[in-house]
Amino acid sequence: MKVLATRRYPGPAFDELGHAEVGPLEPRADVEALLVANEPVDASDFPALRLVANFGVGYDRIGVEALRERGIAVTNTPGVLDAATADLTWALILATRRRVVEGDRRVRAGEWTGSWADGFLAEELSGSTLGIVGLGRIGSAVARRAEGFELRVLSTRRSGGMPLDELLAESDIVTIHAPLTSETQGLLDARRLSLLRDGACLVNTARGEIVDEDALVRELVAGRIRAGLDVFAHEPHVPDELVSLPNVVLTPHLGSATRQTREAMTRIVVDNVLAYERGDPLLTPVET
Ligand code: DGY
Repeated sequence: MKVLATRRYPGPAFDELGHAEVGPLEPRADVEALLVANEPVDASDFPALRLVANFGVGYDRIGVEALRERGIAVTNTPGVLDAATADLTWALILATRRRVVEGDRRVRAGEWTGSWADGFLAEELSGSTLGIVGLGRIGSAVARRAEGFELRVLSTRRSGGMPLDELLAESDIVTIHAPLTSETQGLLDARRLSLLRDGACLVNTARGEIVDEDALVRELVAGRIRAGLDVFAHEPHVPDELVSLPNVVLTPHLGSATRQTREAMTRIVVDNVLAYERGDPLLTPVET
């Protein structure tokens, strides 16, 4: 099978696809399997395409429906990135709530001149309320870690769970773990963001488009809330206003970015391609 990968994906498993070519997503008549990282695929550019193996659990940008209509199978990498993404979520919660990055900047700028006893206070984590938007695999991993921090945990789920508006109004920290779909796009709009408590922290390691980014920027510029953001609506673009704000911590889509997790993701991608070549069932087909 002619396999094209948009990059060399990390880890030894990639070498098992000795026949894979690494190159750009440009029209090709011979390519039968594509390895992508949630990059849009126009099936008409690849008339021989039979399989798209996505390096990532989220496949919102690939164009799954159009691929399905042409009988092209799609796979993703669920499960292996839950821990890494939950850990990064906690890094952002702690950094944002305890003003870690602000403190670091203050030290580096030589602004730490007085006593430790003079001001620069943050908000306590234990005893506060954590609202998890989307209690799926990653949201549940975040919830398990919350036990150690002695938080009260609220959550919304795809079906059931607490109404979102109530969760937003009752939480000190809100963290998003829903997939990007037509239902979740713009879910946290200006009205919902206004429900957040003054001083609340919003953490997003899911997808930028789930939040109305302009409305979020307005809230952050006003200094009413704090945020830890790993994802953005138009990556890798980050709204200019955010860059100089002290009340936001910014990371470049690092949720799954540990060596172990990224290598495990490659393992699943490769196993799906090998299964397809053998005529075996796919390990992790995307069902929509
Ligand atoms: C995914 O897998 O969808 C993530 O965004 C990558 O960390």
